[in-house]
Amino acid sequence: MARSFKNILVTGGAGFIGSNLIHYLFGRPEFQGRVVNLDALTYAGNLESLADIEERFGQGPDARYSFVKADICDRTAVERVFAQYDIDAVCHLAAESHVDRSILGPEAFIKTNVMGTFTLLDVARTAWKGRDDVLFHHVSTDEVFGSLGDTGYFTETTPYDPRSPYSASKASSDHLVMAYHHTYGLPVTLSNCSNNYGPYQFPEKLIPLMILNMLEGKSLPVYGDGKNIRDWVYVEDHNAAVWTIMRNGRSGQTYNIGGENEWENIKLLSVLIEKVAEATGRPAGEYRKLITHVTDRPGHDRRYAIDCSKLKSELGWKQEHDFASGLEKTVRWNIANTAWIDHIRSGEYTQWVRKNYDQR
Ligand code: NAD
Ligand code: TYD
Repeated sequence: MARSFKNILVTGGAGFIGSNLIHYLFGRPEFQGRVVNLDALTYAGNLESLADIEERFGQGPDARYSFVKADICDRTAVERVFAQYDIDAVCHLAAESHVDRSILGPEAFIKTNVMGTFTLLDVARTAWKGRDDVLFHHVSTDEVFGSLGDTGYFTETTPYDPRSPYSASKASSDHLVMAYHHTYGLPVTLSNCSNNYGPYQFPEKLIPLMILNMLEGKSLPVYGDGKNIRDWVYVEDHNAAVWTIMRNGRSGQTYNIGGENEWENIKLLSVLIEKVAEATGRPAGEYRKLITHVTDRPGHDRRYAIDCSKLKSELGWKQEHDFASGLEKTVRWNIANTAWIDHIRSGEYTQWVRKNYDQR
């Protein structure tokens, strides 16, 4: 029988995948519980992504939606949330998530992704005291598996081989999750997903960055030869998979999630240029002229590709969005939401970009 939850703690719910997940959960008829969104609101967190949820479901201890501004490393704050809201499931997304930032400043990644995950696990273990009607789901990345050559796929049994401070910190958090399951019997599930795209994505990641640079007539920075390959999945398909795993996945198991949709960066950019040209009515050539090959990212993983057959055959999940329509929606969302973009870009992010990139 599928698990059901009363009070789900979503960490990182103000971020890209987390805010989409909260929208997804409130659209599920089988979910009638409460969501507690715990987020530190770093440069990547934006509560405006959830304004409609607050309007529909309220906000606070008596409502179906509650926001708590806190750091996942703050044990006292996390303990308070567990006690106050009688949490019976955690969906853990809070993280430092951008590879380029992890190269320039790895410390925040170790703190949040390693120590923060440890803190959450340890509070859950203590609060749940051996209960088996609870679940800790950990959202992770395919980057923990390293880099592929021209052939092959990551499966759930591929050995870990992280190569950036970001992926090393996520690998470490994955190991802690599994260690808490094996050592203390904590009910856990884990998912490793490929690159997401969709609405509310912070414009430092490839797809929204390129869309916005096109709209603003700025150069389109392609790292190295542009032939690195990523597997792209629409964020709602990722969240549907996470929810499927939380309800039906076997405790102690890990599931790969992917789009089965591999693209070289440079080819993806050319499709994206066509989509932006269609949406704006401008000639695609105008955008193509903006492509600029820049110095490669150090240690840039060449290819990621996911085998998600375990999730498909065991739990019956499949992708619902094809790349063309997913990209169109994403382009339209970015064009229609300039206020969201201006606000999220105006804070610490702007200062950080100025400090690290403007001198290039
Ligand atoms: P994001 O950067 O958009 O959002 C991260 C959120 O976490 C933000 O709201 C931020 O404020 C919050 N946060 C950061 N540090 C915190 C802390 N110490 N305490 C509390 N909150 C904190 O990230 P995203 O792209 O939404 O990714 C979410 C999760 O999914 C991450 O764990 C990431 O590793 C994983 N993931 C992402 C992708 C992708 O393509 N984006 C793919 C696979 C897995
Ligand atoms: P990104 O969105 O940062 O995700 P990840 O590094 O987690 O895969 O980058 C996706 C790909 O696009 C990756 O191969 C790096 C490349 N890239 C660029 O070529 N230019 C850019 O400005 C960015 C941000 C990424």
